[in-house]
Formats: sequence, structure tokens, C-alpha cells
Amino acid sequence: MRIPLQLFTIGGDGVGRSARARVTCRYKCGEACWHEPGNTSDNEYFRDVARTALSRRTVLRGSAGAVLAVGATSLLAACGDDGATSSGAPSTGSGSGPVDGMKFDIVTPNTDDALRVPNGYDQKVVIRWGDPVVPGAPEFDFENQTADAQSKQFGFNNDFAGLIPIAGHDGSFYLVVNQEYTSEEFMFHGYKEKEPTEEQARISMAAHGITVLEVKASGKDGSLTPVVGPRNRRITASTPFRLTGPAAGTDFVKTTADRAGNAIAGTIANCSGGITPWGTMLSGEENYNNYFSNTSKVTDKAAAAHLKRYGFEDDADYHQWGKFETRFDLAKDPNEANRFGYVVEVDPTDPNGTPLKHSALGRLKHESATIHVVKDGPNAGAVVAYTGDDEKFEYIYKFVSSRKIKEGDTRHNMGILTEGTLYVASFSSDKPVTTDDAAGSGTWHKLMTVAADGSAQSHIKGMTAAEVAVFTREAADKAGATKMDRPEDIEPHPVTGKVYCALTNNDDRGVDGEEGPTAANPRNENKSGQILEMTDDHAGESFTWDLLLVAGDPKAADTYYGGFDKEKVSPISCPDNVAFDPHGNLWISTDGNALKSNDGLFAVALEGERRGETKQFLTVPRGAETCGPIIDEKRVIVCVQHPGEEDDYSADRPFSHWPDGGNAQPRPSVVAVWRKGGGAVGM
Ligand code: FEO
Ligand code: CA
Ligand code: CA
Repeated sequence: MRIPLQLFTIGGDGVGRSARARVTCRYKCGEACWHEPGNTSDNEYFRDVARTALSRRTVLRGSAGAVLAVGATSLLAACGDDGATSSGAPSTGSGSGPVDGMKFDIVTPNTDDALRVPNGYDQKVVIRWGDPVVPGAPEFDFENQTADAQSKQFGFNNDFAGLIPIAGHDGSFYLVVNQEYTSEEFMFHGYKEKEPTEEQARISMAAHGITVLEVKASGKDGSLTPVVGPRNRRITASTPFRLTGPAAGTDFVKTTADRAGNAIAGTIANCSGGITPWGTMLSGEENYNNYFSNTSKVTDKAAAAHLKRYGFEDDADYHQWGKFETRFDLAKDPNEANRFGYVVEVDPTDPNGTPLKHSALGRLKHESATIHVVKDGPNAGAVVAYTGDDEKFEYIYKFVSSRKIKEGDTRHNMGILTEGTLYVASFSSDKPVTTDDAAGSGTWHKLMTVAADGSAQSHIKGMTAAEVAVFTREAADKAGATKMDRPEDIEPHPVTGKVYCALTNNDDRGVDGEEGPTAANPRNENKSGQILEMTDDHAGESFTWDLLLVAGDPKAADTYYGGFDKEKVSPISCPDNVAFDPHGNLWISTDGNALKSNDGLFAVALEGERRGETKQFLTVPRGAETCGPIIDEKRVIVCVQHPGEEDDYSADRPFSHWPDGGNAQPRPSVVAVWRKGGGAVGM
């Protein structure tokens, strides 16, 4: 059956900055969107460097063996335990009808204060900011919130979500969610910018981090109900972590409180993440620079230069924690800055375990880390972790482990990300710069290798391995990496192994002397971003690439929807997170829609004659961004981050009342969506 398309583009020519509110930039990224880019390296782009000997055809043929990500597959199968099964094969489209997984009525662009889902679908909040998580947590009381209560309740501004089956308990899952940042103006009445009380600062610290929450799947529909019990955990800005890899124990990370340089308090600015095949959660520490005060008081020249490269500056400190915990005051503890910016790993089955920060994956503004398991050849069983550095003109990285995965041995597997080689990518093309079917090849450049005994070798002249691990951006500058348009979520397809990266936008490209268009970043003043598709020789050093989508108004000449008829697509702008459904379609959530409508979640066909077809599945309430999508047979889960966060609004003047309605304050929440009356999503 052909489903009629309801098309509606708001904003005409799509001109305008990403619609992210300035107040969001303030609290989330220290106004990085409004400042000069931090990457001033001169590793300029050269077109058609032809660095790779591996032809596009060779790589495509090599990947035809369909490398299968063990974890993703087992997770898909496990998700089927509560009534769902999946072949996991990519859908190839059938005749003129929508592909499997995309048979739903499009949700049209809108500016509503509501979460809109397709006709015939239902929705329910799973958990909201402030809901109890661990036993003894009080009910949420907006007017009388305390740090103690917050440390036991669901945190603020949820970003990544993952669902991990609980062994031996059909229909029960660990819902793992990270809490990226706080926007104090929307949490407290009468809040004065940069002037928190101590209790407000401590509430903010406790509202960060990660939540592990047991949820039970309904037997009747796709809803998930929290179980407040002993499996649950709140990890906050104070929870002890252990640092692994070449940075651990070095002078760069030793502080007053941690003379050994391996015991770090807390995780912050956790953006996207991934679920490993061994059942743990990975999460990227992203915009941690705007939690530190007194950057200008760091007098050591080298330390000051490192801080500048990572965007630390006095003005960016919107949270002002340094007033109450000296570790966040760089004048007192400058090395504390080097203890954030890692990929963290949490084992949800061990609520008392010490989570890890992996420095072998480098220190940057990690958006996420997602895993591909090498299936064939001498590297079979090795894992490849892909990760992006989300800032304008930053880079794409991967880590290839030398340790092999051992099924059922979590302790062994939690060490996989400590031994191996870290690479950064450069992109080239022999085509002229184009937005229409852009493609090319690329090279992974070695940055450092960590051996099984923990010893590490730098591949960058003039830098030690410890320096590469802590000041990874500077190593990547020297390696000649390609400056990208804000690499956000990056994820390998569980069946084809192709790697998809959301390059969210970069309105500074080509502006004021900044680098102009390059093959994989083909637009000046890029407001709407693009989706990069890489065919990677996973454990090797070569890849080919193309642009699946060049996002923005489909009517504009500089947009591209995989070659699909642009008259028949949903307009998409500012892709942020990527995920896959059980049919192999790509799902994309957006952050900062430049087309003047609310952010949303979209499904995109990857294979066959409908490749590039893009359909909006849901939109989030005004002021919010869509994060952390999970798509399984029975349900779609999204994190609704910062609802109502708009300039000139606050807790004293709410812009949104979602999800509770009436005059309620908006609350960041996780939502499950399913088909009324049962049935598989998108079928
Ligand atoms: Fe936290 Fe890159 O978004
Ligand atoms: Ca993101
Ligand atoms: Ca985001």
C-alpha cells in the first residue's frame, strides 16, 4: 500500500543559523557555536591527494562479506524476547511502496508544545527529570529540590539511551541513559546567571552523569515501566572512576586529591554513547570545558595552549562549580581539566563497580563511541570503536583493539579498549567539490599504539604517547586529519558494517578566513549538515566514503537525499544521533533544525531504489532536541532533551509545559512510542 506523503517545509529557503537557542549554547557548550573555532591548525585540505592505494571498488567488494557486529545482533535478537524477532537483514525496498520499517504516516514539521507521533501510534513517558531511581529517592519537588534528592533521582537533559536485556529476566532491561548538562535558569526560580548558590551548584553536579534503571516491558504494548530497586544506579559528577590507558598515572592528570593520577571523581558532559557487544555502556565526555573557572590564571604556557585548543576560557564557565569545589578551579588544580574528555565505560550489572575512563581512545570532545567487531581474517574478534569530536573543524577517530573479544568474559572485555591503536581520518576525492552524490576515499593515520603490557608508542613526532592520549587534538593536527563539520554520532551498521556519521552543521565554514568547502564538507556556512557513509576496511587504514544526505530544504539546490526524489522526502536539518532499525534502515535524530520547525526523528532507506527516502517519524516539543534513539521491533525510544529551552524564557516564564501539561515546568524525559494495538514499528 502506498502511504500518502504529507509534505510541508517551514522557512522557505532554509537560510539561517542552526535554530539552537543561544541559552542552550551557553549551558551545553560554553557558547562554542558563537565563538571562533578552536582549531587553528594549518593542516589544510588538499583535494585528490590519492593517499590510498585501495580503490573504492576493492573496499566495496571486501565489505560484501557483511561483517556482523556481534553485540548489535545479539541485542536485536534479545530485544525480540518480549515478542519481537528480526532477521536483521537490510531492507531492499519492494516495488513502489515504502520499505519495511518505514511504513508509517509522516509527521509534518510543526512548532507544537507536544511530542507528535504518526497516526496509529501511542506514546508514554518512561522517566522524567527528578523521578526516583534508587530506593529511598523522594518524589520530585521542583520548588524544594535538594542535591541529596537529585543524587537519587533521574538527572537532567538526557542524551544517549541504551536498552540492555537483563539475563534470565525476559522482558526486563537495563535502560542506561546519560545526563549531559544542566541549564540552571530552567531548574530554579529566580536563578541569576553564573551566580548559583552552593546547593544549586550541588544539585547541578548531581543532575549530571549516567542513570542505570531497570525497566519492565509491557506484555500488551511497547511501554516500559521503571522498577525502583537494587539494580539501579546514579552516577554523578562525583562518582569515583578509574582512568585506564597511557594517560593514567602521568603528571598530566595528577591533582591535589589524586597524587597517583588514576582515580577521577565523576563524569560530566556525557553526550552520545554506545552499547558494547559485551553488555556495557560507553558514553562520550563532550563539552567539559565550560565547567572550569580561571582559565586565564593558568600561567604555564604549554598548559594554557592545551586549554585553548580545547576551548577552555573564563567566559565559558556557565556552571561556576569552581566556587564550591576547588578541583573545578584551574587556578588551584589545572590538571583537573585533563581528567575529562574520555570515553567512559559502565557495567550495568555491577551497581557498585568502578566505571572506567579509557584514555587509549584519546581525549577530545567525544560525541559517542560505537563498536564494530571484526569477523574475518587475522583480526577476527578485534573491536573497532568509532568516535567523533563534536566541534566545528574537528576530526573523526577510530580505535582498533589488539585484544580479542571473549564471549561471556566481561572482565576481559572491559579491557579491550585499553590495548590497540588510535587513528584519525583524512578524506579526499578526485571529484570536484559537489553536494550531489559526493564520494571519495580516505586514510586512517596512526596516532598511538598501546601494547598488552600497557606500554605505549606515539606515532606523532615530537609527542610522547601520554601527550597523544591527553592532547589528542594536537596529535591529530600534526597527523594531517581533515577538518569536518562537527562530527557527532558515528555508528557502524550492524549488518553491512558501513559506518554512518552525522556531521551536524558548521556555519563558520568559509567564513572570515576559515577553511572553505572540501569534498566531504561541501558547503560554505553549512547550516543543516550532512550524513557521511564510510565503507571502512575496519582494522585497516583505508576507506571509501560518500555523502548519503546533504541536509536542508529539499527545494534548495544544495541538498541531496541519496538520489531519492526530493519532492517526496521529509525536510531534515542538523543530524545529531544515528541508529538502525531491525530492517537495516538508518534513523536520525536532529538538534537545532535550521528550517524553523521543532527537532525530530527520521527514518532513511539505505538500500535499493528507495535509498535516500527520508520520513519524519516524530517531532519533539518546542525548545527540545531529539536524542538517543533506539528502534526495535516493538518500540521507538527517544530522549527529549531541554524542552522549552529558548532565549528569553526560564523557570519563571516557561516556554514549554511538556510532558505534564497545564502550568507545569518542562522536564527532560525518555519516551517510548509504539503501534496502537501491537505490531511491529514501521510495518
Ligand atoms: Fe552533545 Fe554533540 O552534542
Ligand atoms: Ca549530540
Ligand atoms: Ca545534541
